[in-house]
Amino acid sequence: MRSWIEFILNGEPQRLEHVDPTQTVLRYLREHKGLVGTKEGCAEGDCGACTAVIADLHEGAVRYRAVNTCIQFLAMLDGKALITIEGVKGEDDLHPVQRAMVENDGSQCGFCTPGFVMSLYAGYREGIGTSRRDIDDLLAGNLCRCTGYRPIAAAAEAAFRARPNDNAEADDAELKEGLSKLAERPGAHVESDDRHFIAPATADELADVVERFPDATLVAGATDVGLFVTKQGRRLDVVVHLANVRELNAIEENADGVRLGAGVTYEAAQPIIERLYPDIGELIRRIGGRQVRAVGTIGGNIANGSPIGDMPPVLIAVGATITLRRGAEGRTILLEDYYIEYGRQDRRAGEFIESIFVPAPGPGSEFRCYKLSKRFDQDISAVCGAFAMTFADEGGTRVVRDARIAFGGMAGTPMRAADCETFLEGRPWSQETIDGAVEILDQCYAPITDWRASAEYRRRAAANLLRKCFLETSSPARFRLAGTREMADHGR
Ligand SMILES: Cc1cc2nc3c(=O)[nH]c(=O)nc-3n(C[C@H](O)[C@H](O)[C@H](O)COP(=O)(O)OP(=O)(O)OC[C@H]3O[C@@H](n4cnc5c(N)ncnc54)[C@H](O)[C@@H]3O)c2cc1C
Ligand code: FES
Ligand code: FES
Repeated sequence: MRSWIEFILNGEPQRLEHVDPTQTVLRYLREHKGLVGTKEGCAEGDCGACTAVIADLHEGAVRYRAVNTCIQFLAMLDGKALITIEGVKGEDDLHPVQRAMVENDGSQCGFCTPGFVMSLYAGYREGIGTSRRDIDDLLAGNLCRCTGYRPIAAAAEAAFRARPNDNAEADDAELKEGLSKLAERPGAHVESDDRHFIAPATADELADVVERFPDATLVAGATDVGLFVTKQGRRLDVVVHLANVRELNAIEENADGVRLGAGVTYEAAQPIIERLYPDIGELIRRIGGRQVRAVGTIGGNIANGSPIGDMPPVLIAVGATITLRRGAEGRTILLEDYYIEYGRQDRRAGEFIESIFVPAPGPGSEFRCYKLSKRFDQDISAVCGAFAMTFADEGGTRVVRDARIAFGGMAGTPMRAADCETFLEGRPWSQETIDGAVEILDQCYAPITDWRASAEYRRRAAANLLRKCFLETSSPARFRLAGTREMADHGR
């Protein structure tokens, strides 16, 4: 393995041999490079003040993505380019997104503005559209507490409308050439004070490293692990980075479903999962902001084992399985069996999650999932309910043939409502059945009260989500109840 990392910072190649494995990109920029335009607000990926843009090669072109530098580790930049607010401006003039911010009075406070500009810059380079939804989505990971978003959204719209069809910029070809030189290299292992950052390039290498360092902290997108360091002050001595492992980034689709490597990001998984389960696609769109979804992975969400993670309940409901690997051996288990109790998962020493299989919906099935959180965008669930229902027509009556119901936020682990499912199976999909099912659902969980929601709220919300699923899927009048997205739009 290489004993150094290399990346490009605002056009300048960088090569580092001794790297603290948990030094954040933000600290490196501000404290080592004097690039203080990138700000620290929350240090937990929430506010977007620290946004910078990562560029890498994807399908032969340069891809630009906004990330939160406060929770990205410096060594994760290996093989990529980083563009900060200092690198956006051209030789003689402001970048079009900067000019649009000036012309639309979008520069509100010095703290958030660099982060907003970087999100706009990523959106400009990525070719993000000008619809309200596109722009809201682009800005959801940048918080303003002083004024509001109208001038910034106007700046985004103005800049994107004026963007030439071919928005390749002068530095694109140069960047592509620089990135090509950094592509397809062996893994890296850098050290500092006997602390290690290891980034394997293949699954075999990863399996070997995880067996050799069974206590290592695995890190994929670092949208959870970053906070172990910045918020919990944990010292991590060995960090094993999964994002460069080729096999873990693979997506394989066939008639049975889709297999996602554990390193596949939300951004990459969303369009594929959305085709199978539109509701899961919409749920993914509400995980963090774009900065979080650009690097955060479904594998990390599953492995983290949080009872309020959004992917576990929905993937449990659709019958997903995961494949774990230790050395050359793999084993596949139902995702629901991975969660043993709060804080404990079925992952053995030296093992890692290799892939997740999401089965395609079967005939006669309908899937719904609903996330309840205090804020619509970029907030963790208080309750997340998922319903995978299969119906049969028995003499003109819609009967439940199979029900898989799972909730997050209702117990110490994401969990199925087994008794409620058994009650529903074989019964007509009617108001009477639902009234009975709601009573049984209430006995399936013993939720806790915390600052996100009271136990009583959670119980009532879970019951109402089951009723909502019934209303939306009962024949003949099928419709979508006004979703929280519409309500959120209305409230702004
Ligand atoms: C601002 C913000 C908003 C967020 N919003 C949401 C939200 O709305 N809903 C939600 O559910 N989550 C949310 N999260 C949490 C986080 O983004 C997700 O849990 C994400 O999926 C974690 O993925 P990651 O790749 O970043 O994982 P990492 O942080 O890299 O790792 C997470 C955990 O998984 C382990 N791990 C990672 N990959 C593997 C593997 N292959 N095998 C074994 N162990 C592994 C790591 O050791 C670690 O314990 C948010 C986070 C932030 C910062
Ligand atoms: S400082 Fe708030 S997201 Fe990084
Ligand atoms: S722009 Fe900084 S708080 Fe509003």
